[in-house]
Amino acid sequence: MNGKHYASDPQSLRALVRPDAVHRDLYISEELYGLELERLWRNTWIYMGHDSQVPKPGDFYTAEIAGSPLVMLRGRDGEVRVFLNRCAHKGTRVVSAVEGNCGSTLRCPYHGWTYRLDGSLRTVPLKGGYRETNISDSAHWQGLAQVPNVEIYRGFVFVRLSNEGPDFREYFGDSLSSIDNMADRSPEGRLEIAGGVLRYDHDCNWKMFVENLNDAMHPMVAHQSSAGIAKRLWEEEGDDGTPPMVVQQFAPFVNDYDFFDGMGVRIYENGHSYTGVKFSIHSKYSAVAEYERQMFETYGEDRARAILGENRHNTVYFPSLTIKGAIQAIRVARPLAANRTVLESWTFRLAGAPEELLKRTMTYSRLINAPTSVVGHDDLHCYSEIQKGLHAEGNEWVSLHRNYDTAENEGIAGVYNGTSEVSMRGQMRAWLKYMLPPKAAA
Ligand code: FES
Ligand SMILES: [Fe+2]
Repeated sequence: MNGKHYASDPQSLRALVRPDAVHRDLYISEELYGLELERLWRNTWIYMGHDSQVPKPGDFYTAEIAGSPLVMLRGRDGEVRVFLNRCAHKGTRVVSAVEGNCGSTLRCPYHGWTYRLDGSLRTVPLKGGYRETNISDSAHWQGLAQVPNVEIYRGFVFVRLSNEGPDFREYFGDSLSSIDNMADRSPEGRLEIAGGVLRYDHDCNWKMFVENLNDAMHPMVAHQSSAGIAKRLWEEEGDDGTPPMVVQQFAPFVNDYDFFDGMGVRIYENGHSYTGVKFSIHSKYSAVAEYERQMFETYGEDRARAILGENRHNTVYFPSLTIKGAIQAIRVARPLAANRTVLESWTFRLAGAPEELLKRTMTYSRLINAPTSVVGHDDLHCYSEIQKGLHAEGNEWVSLHRNYDTAENEGIAGVYNGTSEVSMRGQMRAWLKYMLPPKAAA
């Protein structure tokens, strides 16, 4: 496939996605990658950050989404807004730091135009020289352009850059229950980002990571050399007592196929899904007595048990955000090229909960998600081998066949066996839907 007509020919895009397989160009074509940023990543709801990263007026956090530099800023009125990080004058990025506090104004480093925290233009040096021109009728005089479609859900800030596209609730639907469960685990119903971010460069296409999150056929193979060894060493100790948290977190990764199949996967429309419908690798962590007591007190025993009984493994908010509600950690995909993705891992504190829970999350992040982790490297090795392997001649298709049933074509939402590749099929359907120009998709 020469791929030179993807942008203008919807048929050539449709030909890339079969119900049970996708063409390798989805992972290796730079042309398709550019089109993904222009369409999929602009037309859908992408995770920007968490409002607890900017608790005070003047606090900001920057990120790049679909090639656009953005800045999230807390105003004097307490509102969190997201702006295009581009000076209204000539386009300089007004904020170059990743995060910080700008005081009461933002000042462009080039000619010194300043902006209020609501983005409006405050001062322009030697303003008089502009009077005779028609600049005051133009966007240059309006201040920083605000991203119009911003939604803050339980502190999670999402943006949709395009004016076209699905409504937030329509896009995520009931998958938002995973964010609810994560926030409800706080006795105050509130999450706070704890500490900084762990950034991890991956030499692979972003979709490999997102697909892997609900891939329950790989842990017992790919993680044998890490989690498997940790488990074996503990067993060789011959200690019958409760394993330390490190072993509790490692060991379930090498549970058998029955375990991963039995945990189940729930699929929503638009590429969202989670594994761990019935139980998950997080289900058997030792309880923290003080925390349980707090939860019973806040929610009543039945509701508290229901919240803590949900132990969803990975929830995918396609295409950018993946969360682990049961352990209060998230990972965010920030694509850089067809073959390069930065993964961010963020750790959350459950407001009001004992510090022990935060320590548990930090241990998990270090063991599984950090650049220095043990388990994460197993996955990265596989992704980067796929990225290389897909250049081989002879087979242009990537299999998504496991447990495929034609009934999915009528509607994919539902609960399936955990080792099915249905989540990936759902993601690819969503990929095609948002890659097609609106008229072609209808
Ligand atoms: S480019 Fe920002 S003040 Fe000139
Ligand atoms: Fe893995």
